[in-house]
Amino acid sequence: MCGIIAYAGNKPAANVVLEGLKKLEYRGYDSWGIVALADKAENAERPFYVIKRVGKIGGINWDYVSEAIRGESHVAVGHTRWSTHGGVTEQNAHPHLDCSGKIAVVHNGIVDNHQEIRAGLGSHRFLSQTDTEVIPHLIEELMSKEELDFIAAVRKAASTLKGRSAFVAINSETRQMAAARKGTPLIIGLHENSNEEFFIASDVTAFLDYTNKVMYIDDNEMAVVDGGGIAFSSLTSGNELKKRVVEIHWHVGSAEKDGYDHFLIKEVMEQKHTIAAAINQDDAKILAVANDVKSAFGTFFVGCGTAGKTCMVAEYLFSKISGKHINSVVASEFSNYQHYLTPKTLMIAVSQSGETADVLEAIDVAKSKNVRVVSLLNVFGSTMMRASDDFFMVNAGAERAVVSTKATTAQIAVLTLLAYATAGKLQEGKLLLMNAASAVNDMLNPRYEERIKKLALQLVDKKDVFIIGRGLNYPIALEAAIKLQETCYTHAQGFAGGELKHGPLALIEDGTACIAIVANDETKQDMISNAAEVKARGGYIIGIAPENNEVFDYWLKVPDVGNASPIVNIIPVQILAYHIAVLRGINPDYPRNLAKVCTTK
Ligand code: G6P
Repeated sequence: MCGIIAYAGNKPAANVVLEGLKKLEYRGYDSWGIVALADKAENAERPFYVIKRVGKIGGINWDYVSEAIRGESHVAVGHTRWSTHGGVTEQNAHPHLDCSGKIAVVHNGIVDNHQEIRAGLGSHRFLSQTDTEVIPHLIEELMSKEELDFIAAVRKAASTLKGRSAFVAINSETRQMAAARKGTPLIIGLHENSNEEFFIASDVTAFLDYTNKVMYIDDNEMAVVDGGGIAFSSLTSGNELKKRVVEIHWHVGSAEKDGYDHFLIKEVMEQKHTIAAAINQDDAKILAVANDVKSAFGTFFVGCGTAGKTCMVAEYLFSKISGKHINSVVASEFSNYQHYLTPKTLMIAVSQSGETADVLEAIDVAKSKNVRVVSLLNVFGSTMMRASDDFFMVNAGAERAVVSTKATTAQIAVLTLLAYATAGKLQEGKLLLMNAASAVNDMLNPRYEERIKKLALQLVDKKDVFIIGRGLNYPIALEAAIKLQETCYTHAQGFAGGELKHGPLALIEDGTACIAIVANDETKQDMISNAAEVKARGGYIIGIAPENNEVFDYWLKVPDVGNASPIVNIIPVQILAYHIAVLRGINPDYPRNLAKVCTTK
């Protein structure tokens, strides 16, 4: 979702910001903008240079930006917008300015009470339909009516906003840049031994090329950057805050496509190595979390989207491997379970980004009931990492495509390991997963991809695809449906094999495509029967299984890896969805309407 990168220092600021915005593209956005504060304004009435565009940044380079900036600038802020309030238009893209044109603001998140604030700013001239635009006007109002200085006005404005958000405001007169955080991350980057160069970003990937030294702005805090350096203070009391400089040692992974046409297929192929990296965990840590699960009175695995599906896989894994009942809950629904929470409850929050608003809210609910929270993450330094009592990483490296692939299988691998550890069989789990990692390595070869491409050609005109699975692979059927929906816009639905006869079977017609995920486990026979029921009604059966079966019209072979089957079974669907998207001319890296990092509810 929206991304912010701000810079103040001795480099050409708009250029640094443009490059930072390109790094934030993976979060998903529909428009973008940059505001640069001119070193020497053409005239005092026009201190800012603003570029706003709808669509992707694409090939836009420094020449383009420098022409728009027309002068030198050492303070600039950039923003990628994922629309919430107001359509995808240049007017609605950020930055937004106050009436005087001297205060510019970019913003992430939602101002829940924007209508109320706007109503109180009757005399101000609004140019957009966004919730964000109330912020510069409110700051302006507070500076003029209450005679507050810029910093006090930003503090008061931020305190007035309801909902999860964060913003950066620049004042062209004082040449100050202020950043305020209320529920949505903002991180400061500092240059080597320097107090003269600062970055402010919604995630560290925007500036990691320049520095790995960071300071975190926490909720209800603000930071001000000006000629004197940086100062942190509380939004509520105004008191000054001291902050530690933290060094981030996180390999973001290559930002390049490394010869692949898209990040998505590159990341699918990286699964040759990422499963092995995921299970390379500290035994003591895994055992400690396993002990947490054993001693908890009620464990909830909580996540959204694909991570929500890996939580569901965990529910089956823990039942099957360690005989332990755990609950998987979609994060946006978690607050409905708060009545069961006690200090003996355990929450395991699963998230690729560590920034998903719904998961952060669920953590807030858990914390309010003194529940212990352990997070399973892919992005180091994320808000969830810092909001949890403990965390562990899935080590998949940066995932740039909106569609999650390698982080998904890495999550499942770690959750499988955890289930085995909870059963007192950590070594057995490791062996199983090492075998699965090497099987995935063998499986991801060009011949395999070719076979899936052929299937993609057959499915390219199909509007609907059904996917069925049972047991460990029922959640994989649901995840497979997500892959097809978001990557190639196919109407796909996943079901438990046994549920077809209770409704969906009525939708099967001659040639309807149905993917049957048939693991070589206790669910096999029933799955084959379910596939046969679909075939008998004219369905075209694509079997994902270690062995072929006469019921399959098209067979996608997967290695037989026992309880690690969810890992290998999702991979062919990832590749299939990718190739259907390419055949349909869809950019699989940036699906329409979706964002990688969902910072709004
Ligand atoms: C978005 C992404 C999904 C992801 C979900 C949860 O919808 O597009 O790929 O599964 O958010 O994100 P998280 O970062 O918490 O795993």
